[in-house]
Amino acid sequence: MLGFALAYPRFEKDRKFIIDHLIALSKEDRFFRFGMHHVNDEIIKKYVNGIKPMDSVICAFNHTITDKPVGLLHIAYSGSGETSSAEIGFSVLPEFRKQGIGTQLFERAITKCQNRVVDHIYTYYVPSNVPVQKMLLRLGFVISRDFDQNTGELKLPNPNMFSFYKGAVHFEQELFGASFANIVRLLKK
Ligand SMILES: CC(C)(COP(=O)(O)OP(=O)(O)OC[C@H]1O[C@@H](n2cnc3c(N)ncnc32)[C@H](O)[C@@H]1OP(=O)(O)O)[C@@H](O)C(=O)NCCC(=O)NCCS
Repeated sequence: MLGFALAYPRFEKDRKFIIDHLIALSKEDRFFRFGMHHVNDEIIKKYVNGIKPMDSVICAFNHTITDKPVGLLHIAYSGSGETSSAEIGFSVLPEFRKQGIGTQLFERAITKCQNRVVDHIYTYYVPSNVPVQKMLLRLGFVISRDFDQNTGELKLPNPNMFSFYKGAVHFEQELFGASFANIVRLLKK
């Protein structure tokens, strides 16, 4: 069964989950994920160790199959007020793709950002990345094209009762302040 939880990279155990997930990506997927060639394991570790404590990392997991995240999405926040924004990067393991996991991660990211009163969110992707392009267009993102990189941008509405409710449903564990590792432990019982 599919579930979603927040990871906390400041905890060693959660950081390891994130690193393992990204290292499992193929050379081509790393290119799609980071938008550059030659992303080796060291670059991935440096990237994960550089995730700021204020950022959010959302994990998708299918606990009946594996304890490891099958999908992962990083929200990097910047600015405040009207200039606040968040950059999104995400990935789903190949064997779990085309099941809507990427979309569900993204929908959770949108709600999370809306509830944090982020003005707009954006994601960079290489123009040949068909799944991302499809997803962004369906979610109402505005696409701008550069030579070797596309940007999808979405202006967010203010939070409301519905978005707060949605956020609570998306991440029940936030109500208890538990870490991703704790959730996995609870589900194992
Ligand atoms: C991008 C990625 C996360 C999508 O994950 P996913 O779980 O397969 O996504 P979904 O199942 O929600 O599919 C999203 C859309 O792409 C379509 N799609 C998925 N895989 C596809 C493929 N190989 N070819 C064409 N369309 C595809 C789906 O039909 C869906 O279309 P819709 O929105 O019109 O219904 C995954 O392909 C991935 O990890 N790629 C490598 C990393 C990457 O590219 N990251 C994004 C840049 S940061």
